[in-house]
Amino acid sequence: MKSQENLNLENYWMPFTANKAFKSNPRLLVSSKGMHYQTDDGREILDAIAGLWCTNAGHCHPKIVDAVQRQVAEMDYATAFNMSHPKAFELAERIAAHTPEGLDRIFYGNSGSEAVETAMKVALAYHASKGDAQKTKFIGREKGYHGVNFGGVSVGGITPNRKSFGPLLPGIDHLPHTWDPNHMAFSKGQPEWGGHLADELEKILMLQDPSTVAAVIIEPVVGSGGVIVPPKGYLEKIREICTKHNVLLIFDEVITAFGRLGSCFAANRFEVTPDIITMAKGLTSAMIPMSAVAFDTQIHDQITQHSETPIELFHGYTYSGHPVACAAGLATLDVYEEESLFDRSKELETVFEDALHSLKGSNQVIDIRNIGLMGAIHFGSDGIPATEFAPKVFQYCYDNDVLVRFSADYIVLSPPLIAETSHIEKITDTLKEAISSVS
Ligand SMILES: Cc1ncc(COP(=O)(O)O)c(C=O)c1O
Repeated sequence: MKSQENLNLENYWMPFTANKAFKSNPRLLVSSKGMHYQTDDGREILDAIAGLWCTNAGHCHPKIVDAVQRQVAEMDYATAFNMSHPKAFELAERIAAHTPEGLDRIFYGNSGSEAVETAMKVALAYHASKGDAQKTKFIGREKGYHGVNFGGVSVGGITPNRKSFGPLLPGIDHLPHTWDPNHMAFSKGQPEWGGHLADELEKILMLQDPSTVAAVIIEPVVGSGGVIVPPKGYLEKIREICTKHNVLLIFDEVITAFGRLGSCFAANRFEVTPDIITMAKGLTSAMIPMSAVAFDTQIHDQITQHSETPIELFHGYTYSGHPVACAAGLATLDVYEEESLFDRSKELETVFEDALHSLKGSNQVIDIRNIGLMGAIHFGSDGIPATEFAPKVFQYCYDNDVLVRFSADYIVLSPPLIAETSHIEKITDTLKEAISSVS
């Protein structure tokens, strides 16, 4: 491995990164284990964000490492179209055992973005198969993040992600987001205020004509857009309105699935069942890229039983159900079960909540939001501009051996589910110091 001084940083165009700034002050990680990364200059960094909301079982879990190593040596790849391998079926069955009842048909992709595209395409194919080919519109939500492909960006609601990429898909509308600091600042868990915001869906459907709308797609808890927790009653009402108008409901659970909220899916925790769930990240604890989409049996059966061609769905990826990813997925689900990591996440929730909310009253902090093991600290601009404050807090934490994530004017946290109370304390102590030191 080349040392940092000898590394050519020019050729790699980094994703979602201030490339020029990074390359003038690189932060390089070289190994990882459990709750920590090691840097190229020998420091140990506490990972407060599970990689990117994904290493839920902790880094380099030996059981997952072993499963991957064995699979690579045994069979590197199995042809994905008109051929398969046993682990793909086994993993689908294991995932379906965790999904809400009825959502038991599993389609594989490689990334969250692909899961979103798959969900959107299947929603269209479902309606077309039923003779409702005019149902082509989608409704997303402001501040939503659904990956970076054209479908996901179109239904997404984060302005810079949409800005440079032309008109995007036609026939898209957006629900308003549900964050209103005047009514819900420093709520712990689900805010009491805001359930009525779901009524906006009824208004949008009346405007668009529900007979032209295929699906509503939302993250049950907004992740990248700043950990915006659904107000009490909101998701229930969205479900009710979608059912009333024969519009499919897609929960994008790329972040919230696999224990982040103390249950396998947010749908389980909130007891609201969508028609389609997208998942990725925690599915393999990020060891190997993989995503999946769980479809209601009825959606699957409609398409497969009424197809006019032997191939029922003209969609899929070379690496759908890749054997190494399936091996990683199976081992990851074993780890979650054997180590009761979803329960552990649930048990740690109040420790995490109390620690996070102890930052209330700190310099420029205007809101703190949390649920499960995900949280955000939101800054205002009563000192330096909040969009400068957040990256400075990030850098201070990194310099003091804690990796947090900043975006716009907030910091997000999503520690691996194996975190201990002492890790949570270190994260919040470092953040406290950072927030009071930055100016
Ligand atoms: C809710 C949600 N959907 C989709 C995606 C896209 O996933 P990927 O980056 O794997 O394409 C993400 C990524 O963070 C996400 O948070």
